[in-house]
Amino acid sequence: MADSKVVLITGASSGIGHATALRLAGQGHHVVLGARRTDRLTALAEAIRDAGGSADTHRLDVTDPKIVATFVDTAVDRHGRIDVIINNAGVGPLSRLDSLLTDEWNQTIDVNIRGLLHGIAAALPHFQRHGAGHFVTIASVGAHEVMPTGAVYCATKYAAWAITEGLRLELDPGIRVTTVSPGIVESEIADSITDPDTQEAIRAFRESPISADAIAAAISYAIGQPPDVDVNELIIRPAGQR
Ligand SMILES: NC(=O)c1ccc[n+]([C@@H]2O[C@H](COP(=O)([O-])OP(=O)(O)OC[C@H]3O[C@@H](n4cnc5c(N)ncnc54)[C@H](OP(=O)(O)O)[C@@H]3O)[C@@H](O)[C@H]2O)c1
Repeated sequence: MADSKVVLITGASSGIGHATALRLAGQGHHVVLGARRTDRLTALAEAIRDAGGSADTHRLDVTDPKIVATFVDTAVDRHGRIDVIINNAGVGPLSRLDSLLTDEWNQTIDVNIRGLLHGIAAALPHFQRHGAGHFVTIASVGAHEVMPTGAVYCATKYAAWAITEGLRLELDPGIRVTTVSPGIVESEIADSITDPDTQEAIRAFRESPISADAIAAAISYAIGQPPDVDVNELIIRPAGQR
């Protein structure tokens, strides 16, 4: 494939990252898969290879900047360059603030904000050396509006939006920047909710999700544009989501 890219995906073991890996690999891109559940990554890479695609896997914890740097540097060593990093890894243990689940707040900040920054720090020098590259941030509808139980999660997604927009404004035009904001999407994200009342409310709220592949298709559209076309913002949600 003439425009085959080397695409790094954080959080590729389930949900949106998993679907994006399958779609992009199916289009002839080489995908580099990162997450903590390496058994899932191995199974995904095997499925991709069985279908004629190519993939590498790495154990990745985005909260550790050294591990993220190794994830990126290893891909550059192996392939000579990287073209796209999709900073997708995220957690969403929603709860009301008066639940005082401070460990979960900190984990959300560590993964959703620091993890994103670590991905940017690791990939930016390579993109600058190469004079090209593409950052894709998976934010959320929660980057645009706040809902009860989502104060911390939405704060991290507002931050992801702001960081990504700041990046766009600072960069040379050879490097493109896209923020993708999903609405309710089929994935494992709600499994991390520990607060029983919130679990109940979110189960009802998430009753009619769209497929993770709907987000993968949007990412594919953004990275498939010609080099002078920068798709900056996409919001994709169920047609019935209000
Ligand atoms: N699904 C939705 O409705 C929705 C809506 C808006 C935005 N989003 C965003 O979409 C992104 C993907 O989430 P998803 O919905 O696909 O949920 P998911 O199925 O729970 O996937 C989350 C992914 O993030 C990875 N991850 C979590 N902590 C990590 C860490 N410390 N280091 C590396 N990877 C980590 C998980 O892998 P391991 O556990 O194996 O590490 C998993 O692959 C997130 O940023 C989320 O905020 C989702």
